[in-house]
Amino acid sequence: MSIARTSPGTVQPDTHPRLCVEPLLDPREPLAEVAADGADVVRGLNQAQKTLPPRYFYDDHGSKLFEQICALPEYYLTRTETAILESQALDIARTTGECELAELGSGSATKIRLLLDAHRELGQALRFLPIDVNAGILESSARELLGLYPQLTVHGLVGTFELALERLPATVLPTRALCFLGSTLGNLTPAECDVFFTQVAAALKPGEYFLLGVDLHKSTTLLEAAYNDSAGITAEFNLNILHHLNTRFEGNFDLGQFEHIAFYNEALQQVEIYLENHRAQTVALRRLDLTVHIEAGERILTEISRKFDLSRLGAELAAKSLQPVKTWTDTNQWFGLILCRRQ
Ligand code: TRP
Repeated sequence: MSIARTSPGTVQPDTHPRLCVEPLLDPREPLAEVAADGADVVRGLNQAQKTLPPRYFYDDHGSKLFEQICALPEYYLTRTETAILESQALDIARTTGECELAELGSGSATKIRLLLDAHRELGQALRFLPIDVNAGILESSARELLGLYPQLTVHGLVGTFELALERLPATVLPTRALCFLGSTLGNLTPAECDVFFTQVAAALKPGEYFLLGVDLHKSTTLLEAAYNDSAGITAEFNLNILHHLNTRFEGNFDLGQFEHIAFYNEALQQVEIYLENHRAQTVALRRLDLTVHIEAGERILTEISRKFDLSRLGAELAAKSLQPVKTWTDTNQWFGLILCRRQ
């Protein structure tokens, strides 16, 4: 695709008048693309419990695999959240009124259509601000949406959630709803979650909205099945993070030695996802100037997926000036959607 630079930091794809895609660079890191990128990998691999930041799951292949996970019979999350949105989108749109939708981790931007449909049905203007670390999926899904909604304008931000929240463009419509769906919140530790809510509150003006989708407590059997699908797609997705690091940072992880492990830690109420190494290996990531030794039997933590209690989470949000105004769940109470208003 050909992209023309119009103003610093703004890339205007040359063929679509209603689309703007902005790559976010960290102003505090002059060599952001090279230097800041990967600093979190170095930090994670130097810890006693080695961890990898989940954002590295989402290269092109990983983003596609994640779409497949969302369609798996065991992965009830996407289906359940979509069903809640399908039945409640009009209620949400009536509550917010004419409203532009920003979405953190927009990916294929499928769920947002349900909200766009509702606003269209109410005769309201449509504006979408997708935010994703993967530029390819962001642009292709944005173009698809523009084809489906002739009135829609799209301003996409390519970068991490943290940067995007600092750099959201000014609200154009009467209000804005920042959407964080798919229980991605569960991938943050409690401490990270606390910081994240502070950043969300700071990114919103009083009266703007935060729409949050979260997975709820349920039986260990159901939870473990969702992260250990029988087709092995989740295992492939988990392993792909190492392949991505190998290509991005000239690494030599021996993927053949790693096994996908996922289980529910009931005490911490979180699914823990690891890659277990079978034979000791020394891994070099040349572009990061990093060498790490990984023991036989050692596990790298690639993600946690916390499971929530709606009333407790509501109280935490309220304490951050994000006042819950409406909450929805499915009949099984497997998944919850909370609409908060910035106080
Ligand atoms: N946000 C998703 C979740 O917590 C991400 C996810 C689903 C995931 N399956 C995974 C991450 C497997 C790592 C491995 O459900």
